[in-house]
Amino acid sequence: MSVILGIDIGGSGIKGAPVDTGTGRLAGERRRIPTPEGAAPGDVQGVVKELVEHFGLPGAVGVTFPGIVQRGHTLSAANVHPDWVGLDADALFSEATGHEVHLINDADAAGLAEARFGAGQGVQGTVMVLTFGTGIGSALIHDGVLIPNTELGHLWLRDKHAESWASDRARELGDLNWKQWSKRASTYLQHLELLFSPDLFIIGGGVSKKADKWQEHLTVGRSRVVPATLLNEAGIIGAAMMAARHAEPATGPAAADPAPEGQPAPSKAAAAKTPASKTPARKAPARKKA
Ligand code: BGC
Repeated sequence: MSVILGIDIGGSGIKGAPVDTGTGRLAGERRRIPTPEGAAPGDVQGVVKELVEHFGLPGAVGVTFPGIVQRGHTLSAANVHPDWVGLDADALFSEATGHEVHLINDADAAGLAEARFGAGQGVQGTVMVLTFGTGIGSALIHDGVLIPNTELGHLWLRDKHAESWASDRARELGDLNWKQWSKRASTYLQHLELLFSPDLFIIGGGVSKKADKWQEHLTVGRSRVVPATLLNEAGIIGAAMMAARHAEPATGPAAADPAPEGQPAPSKAAAAKTPASKTPARKAPARKKA
């Protein structure tokens, strides 16, 4: 059994828990610390360090981030401090904690966890996980392999980024009832269905706890739509799964198992050869914290 610390950076709280990456279950109690006002890198780093010290687990640590994460660098900041853009966050957190820390986009982490241990368990083909909260996060998984950083919450729809029209926050801000919100979410899902033909949509994020309110109103064409089952543990579990993957030797049992996160673990040396500065930093529009 491999127990890895997973940490989920959210708009209002930073949560951590040890995860049994073989079963996807939490192997201990969760700890939550409020997200520091403004969510600047240095402050968040302090909280992550505190959580790592609190759990005292050896080995790699997985951390989610609510923006683009490419080769350990955070490249967008829709809901956090702009100083995250272009930062080598893997290196920053590894240095601060003395552990090997790997970051992953929050929706990608939730997607990995849901596809492997949650509502998508055993489903072949294309699974699309969407997290409806302050924004909309997306994870695209085909036969267990993740295509990271799809950022489909920023798909242009109705002259706006989809998340500013169909997220849970948009529902609250617009004072929409569940039927009205479901109509918007259905328009969004139908468009995604046209583009990606998923076999299964998994609806996660804050709205997943209230599936009884929207399930009957959500309509798509060919795809199945189900609520997520791991609720607010999905990010923690997915982060730990990804860190476990990085930590495992390439010839170990995981090599025979289709990589859940879809990416071979790049060595630090390989990562160093492809600096993020070659990737144009993309900044999503600023959004208020939930
Ligand atoms: C960000 C995504 C994130 C999602 C959910 C979006 O605004 O661009 O990276 O996954 O919010 O937090």
